[in-house]
Amino acid sequence: MKIAIHHRKGSFSERWIAYCEKNAIDYKVVNAFDSDIIQQVKDCDAFMWHHHHGHFKDVIAAKKILFSLEQAGIKVFPDFNTGWHFDDKVAQKYLLEAIDAPLVPSYVFYDKKEAMTWAQQTSYPKVFKLKGGAGATNVKLVKNKKDAEKLINQAFGKGFSQFDRLNNLKEKCSKYKNGKESLLGVAKGVGRLVVSSDFDRQQAPERGYIYFQDFIPNEGFDIRVVVIENKAVALKRVTRKNDFRASGSGNLVFENEHIDKRYIKIAFDLSEKLKTSSLAIDLIHSKQDAIYVVEISYGFPMLNFLDCASGYWDNMLNWHQSYFNLQEWIIGSSLKDIKDRD
Ligand SMILES: Nc1ncnc2c1ncn2[C@@H]1O[C@H](COP(=O)(O)OP(=O)(O)O)[C@@H](O)[C@H]1O
Ligand SMILES: [Mg+2]
Repeated sequence: MKIAIHHRKGSFSERWIAYCEKNAIDYKVVNAFDSDIIQQVKDCDAFMWHHHHGHFKDVIAAKKILFSLEQAGIKVFPDFNTGWHFDDKVAQKYLLEAIDAPLVPSYVFYDKKEAMTWAQQTSYPKVFKLKGGAGATNVKLVKNKKDAEKLINQAFGKGFSQFDRLNNLKEKCSKYKNGKESLLGVAKGVGRLVVSSDFDRQQAPERGYIYFQDFIPNEGFDIRVVVIENKAVALKRVTRKNDFRASGSGNLVFENEHIDKRYIKIAFDLSEKLKTSSLAIDLIHSKQDAIYVVEISYGFPMLNFLDCASGYWDNMLNWHQSYFNLQEWIIGSSLKDIKDRD
């Protein structure tokens, strides 16, 4: 058995490679951007790539390569079921509605007039989101009709940059105050007000659609559950100060076995329905005691759970106090699937 891995520093590939070394598994590191990548992977049983929404080359190449190899019978990570909806909240809206998941009530419009008509008669606040982005960078509270109309005009006019320069600087300043950002980082944020990033220059503006969700009043946190191979781990993310957004705040809390099992149950149910090999689900708890899915993703920050969570749940919702390594779970389950297939 041989595995091809596209390596990126700081990504899951670091731990996949370490796993192969440790377990004497035959692997080769490949560059997915080589024109003959398909040829290079032909002698392998699997191809793994932790592609990232913030790397433009990944965004334009990864899914095409992965799904082509998958159709040719090579085991890939992330595969189609796991990754087709990655970094696309609008795709996730359709998917989650189609499988009757408890998605936050969500609205998408491709027509300015229709969006305006809706904005006249809906209730506020609402939450506006671009389809792509993470760490709450492209998520805004819409307090009233005027806010909504402004956003609709922009969505069907010049559009939005995926990189919100002002928000980026605000984030850096508040993280600096909490000791989570350096002065140099803040200075770079100031520089970004005038010099756009590579990603920003390459990515076309987001326009021609607008996406809103109902705002769900909650207690100021969201819960992220990750399901891999019939096991689940979870953490709590507390919102930024005076802000409704939890993701990207850096305020992580590890409640381990004390997390409400309803979150874990929803995550297992969705993972089973969607047939995913890695599923991170962000959920919020309303003041009316309902739990809603906010978004899903195959990937998550490498260090999200590192050394902080003390165990996991099995799919019978039993808690196991145990060290774990999510990237090892991912590669381990891919290998198991290949062996089971042979
Ligand atoms: N509909 C909503 N109602 C209330 N809070 C929300 C809603 N949607 C998102 N949030 C909050 O905003 C944060 C960012 O939203 P999310 O859709 O997960 O975007 P991102 O992909 O940037 O993480 C979430 O972590 C959650 O705390
Ligand atoms: Mg999120």
